[in-house]
Amino acid sequence: MSSDDLRSFIHLLEQADQLARISTLVDPYLELAGIVDRVSKGAGRGRGLLFETVQGTAMPVAANLFGSLERVGWALGTTDLEETAHRFAADLLATGEVDGECALRILSGKEEWQPTIGNNPVCRTVNHSRQGLRVLPLVTAWPGDGGPYLTMAQTYSRPPDGGALNCGMYRIQIHDSHTATMRCRSGSGAARHLAAWHARGVAMPVAVALGGPPILNWAAAASLPGDVEEAAFCGYLRGRPLSLSNCQSCDLQVPASAEVVIEGVIEPGATRSEGPFGNHTGSYDVETVAPVLKVLSVHAREGAICPWTLVGPPPMENIQLARATAGLFLPLVRMSLPTLRSLHLPAEGMFHRAALVTVDPDEKRPLKEVARLLWGTSLLKGARLLVIGAADHDPRDPSAVFWRVLNRTDWQRDLLIENSQMAIDARRLPSGEPVHCDPGVLAKVYARWHEYGLDGDD
Ligand SMILES: Cc1cc2nc3c(=O)[nH]c(=O)nc-3n(C[C@H](O)[C@H](O)[C@H](O)COP(=O)(O)O)c2cc1C
Repeated sequence: MSSDDLRSFIHLLEQADQLARISTLVDPYLELAGIVDRVSKGAGRGRGLLFETVQGTAMPVAANLFGSLERVGWALGTTDLEETAHRFAADLLATGEVDGECALRILSGKEEWQPTIGNNPVCRTVNHSRQGLRVLPLVTAWPGDGGPYLTMAQTYSRPPDGGALNCGMYRIQIHDSHTATMRCRSGSGAARHLAAWHARGVAMPVAVALGGPPILNWAAAASLPGDVEEAAFCGYLRGRPLSLSNCQSCDLQVPASAEVVIEGVIEPGATRSEGPFGNHTGSYDVETVAPVLKVLSVHAREGAICPWTLVGPPPMENIQLARATAGLFLPLVRMSLPTLRSLHLPAEGMFHRAALVTVDPDEKRPLKEVARLLWGTSLLKGARLLVIGAADHDPRDPSAVFWRVLNRTDWQRDLLIENSQMAIDARRLPSGEPVHCDPGVLAKVYARWHEYGLDGDD
């Protein structure tokens, strides 16, 4: 059963000997991240970490909780992610829809998965509004970072016409007690909402939640169609609706069991410089401008814990979150392209920025059509590279893919670049017959192998 809040998830990890408590006083400026970096790369058995005493704050910090695929599974309420993916695929088919995203809308729109909504949540037990963001651990990860960041926050927003509630994971830089910047990429749910509010000249209400059911941390980072609410989808996945609570200042809802809830607004035209930020690419995102979040209130649970994730050169826990998403969302890709035979998402591409696929031999549609179908899925919409191979490819073997691509493609004909995304058509089979050893000779060579004096050289 999936955990209902961060602390029960931490407890679950502890019971399974997958959590290390660090009681030594730790500096949130670089030291904390230095520890998480080593543990992400295997030190300390890669366990989740609970920093109990962090300089400058009374709030402990939890990190690397999702540092293995198994633990992401636990957050989703399963010990068998493959079984969950099969169930999801079967439920999508059972909707009778041929379009994957329509099927997903039907599935998560069911009454039984809609969150319950209350008004007196435990997440508003303590009012920190005067201290504002200063109550939080101010964690700076890398020496060149522009300041402290919240990296494992769920940001909630809604379009001005009252459409679906979006929950996204975007980095939030803390500037002072009541000012932060939120960097949401164009195309993200929050960026779309922001554009709609600001087109009306109105400030956008935002709620940021830290903690709550850990399944929401995964969902916030997974890319769902804009009108599918993460909270309802999580209800479906875990087989039990979530409990949300109304915000005080606006029509937004946050997990009732969150550790911390920040309410604020982003006023039209309010921007300030953000970054640099050490990113998963291995280099710093340069300083740029980002929307300013003006903080109106900060509430917390008694003894609140701040979840935080280190972003930087892989492997880190974001890879495990993305790996779980890729496994679960595969059926949606299959529904868009039924001739898909196999799909491999290499870790180097963060499981959604590159896809190596094979299709059935009778898939004769041109590259443009096949690529657009794949880019049309929420899993692969951001894929910078698609390699579409013939059925005789093993897409999990990078060396074989490279070999085939280099030998079977003509860049004039088989390459498509659209909006900074590239697709390679490697389906074309060579005109000549495949080269194989004569079977009779092969049998003879095997039979006489010991006579050649080559035994033991394999
Ligand atoms: C650790 C981590 C940090 C992320 N930081 C950002 C970010 O700063 N800005 C952003 O737009 N997306 C970021 N993402 C990716 C988004 O969370 C992801 O695209 C998600 O689908 C956004 O939700 P949305 O589709 O509802 O907009 C991050 C993902 C992870 C796992």
